[in-house]
Amino acid sequence: MCARPGGPERRMLSARLGRGGEPALKIAGVGQGYVGLVTSVGAAEWGNEVVGVEIDPQRLLALRAGRSPIFEPGLEELVAGHAATGRLSFSSDTGEAVAGARIVFVAVATTDSAGAWDFATMRRCLTGVVPLMDDDSVLVIRSTCPPQLVKEIVPLVDAIRSNADRAPIALAFNPEFTREGNALHDFLEPDRVILGIASDPSGLGEAALRQFYATVEAPILVMGAADAMLSKLASNLYLATKISFANELAALCDVHGSRIERVVEGMSYDPRIGGSFLRAGIGFGGSCLPHQVTMTVADAETLGIDVPLLAAVDSINARQRTTFVDRLAALTGGLEGRRIALLGLTFKPHTDDLRAAPGLDIARDLLSRDAVVVAYDPMETARQRAAGLIDDLLIADTAIDALTGADAVGLITEWPEFVALPWADLARVVRGQVVVDGRNALDPEVMAAAGFTYSAFGRGTQTAQDGSAAASVPVGSPINVRSALAFSES
Ligand code: UDX
Repeated sequence: MCARPGGPERRMLSARLGRGGEPALKIAGVGQGYVGLVTSVGAAEWGNEVVGVEIDPQRLLALRAGRSPIFEPGLEELVAGHAATGRLSFSSDTGEAVAGARIVFVAVATTDSAGAWDFATMRRCLTGVVPLMDDDSVLVIRSTCPPQLVKEIVPLVDAIRSNADRAPIALAFNPEFTREGNALHDFLEPDRVILGIASDPSGLGEAALRQFYATVEAPILVMGAADAMLSKLASNLYLATKISFANELAALCDVHGSRIERVVEGMSYDPRIGGSFLRAGIGFGGSCLPHQVTMTVADAETLGIDVPLLAAVDSINARQRTTFVDRLAALTGGLEGRRIALLGLTFKPHTDDLRAAPGLDIARDLLSRDAVVVAYDPMETARQRAAGLIDDLLIADTAIDALTGADAVGLITEWPEFVALPWADLARVVRGQVVVDGRNALDPEVMAAAGFTYSAFGRGTQTAQDGSAAASVPVGSPINVRSALAFSES
């Protein structure tokens, strides 16, 4: 469940503010990006005294002013709230933050801007931080690290300590499993906590982490460092596999005129299967799933092993975006000169994140096929960034503006406000009553009643106004838009 600031989630968090009396532990958090900031705020929420280290001056300025530089429901309120309680402060001075800290969390980038593994920032960070840490403190890596980086960090930390004439310190890998839009909830009430202990000469490291997570009700699993990071990787690879499986199933459903929701429901009562992460559509985006699938396939090639399942997960995910554009092409009778309205740009609702967002690939593909593309997303920051990323992409200020005069509509992100649009009235605003739903989010019956030709993934291709499935129009095959509209108006 995703919550917005001020919603029930926020009330739950408020109730926990001020809990605990005296600060439990002194914590330093190095790197205040997405993962680092959520960790710092969560640690303060549990009553610890936290200093977040951030070297980016703009980001630091925002944090010190009580503003969150990233959009995450509830985060800004807690940044400001804990600045007021005095439990959370921000600094650019690593030495000051790390001195006396019992736990030092490191959450810095391990990839370059193109998404390839890049360990330079981590090496630089460890070289600066590790010599300054107290002997009884524990260094905890929160960044996503592939096993090859784990192998590098362990001897590197030892070498840095010994070169600085300092005693060895405890080192642990503590992967995060936070979903964007739900990150605070996932941190504060995790399903499990994984502690990959790489070295712990005195046992103080594990003890500090157990104290840190003392109020968490979920299992605390202690394992080796590489096991911990592979658990994180494996979780994301499995989630990605489920989504691509659902998308493959959707293609079968379309051919057989069957509804994927019913099929998944039928599967979901089997406790060995479950029903989550089986929503078909344009596939997975975001900073984690696509990157980790692609990099695992690339790493496997370097290591000389075959991972055909993951390679297929990757290619099915890419195919979904192309299928979506092909359907728009089929339902408009060719994209050249057609005005296509895209609803949503972010990779999922309740975030402004555009990383590996399917909507960007789709917009580029539509433009390359000479369509006119006008997009709207509820997040203004996402709209602005998308306009900077894609030449010729038109940005609308409202959903209605995007839809006005459109030959077809593509739903990219299932923001609730798109589901709640007055579709019956909008049939008169658009020029072509065609909707391709990339998230299976709209109600096919509502869309048909509103007069739209509706196409989705695994819902029997198209639904006409009278609610009957127009399964005679196979996926991707060209149809004349006028006959489609005539059908929907009949
Ligand atoms: C993911 C993992 O869920 C989280 O545990 C990990 O720590 C970070 O990566 P996140 O990237 O925030 O989290 O997004 P998530 O909610 O997992 O969704 C990923 C993508 O998959 C989105 O684009 C979403 O739209 C898509 N998705 C999800 C589907 O297409 N179908 C589904 O059934 C579920």
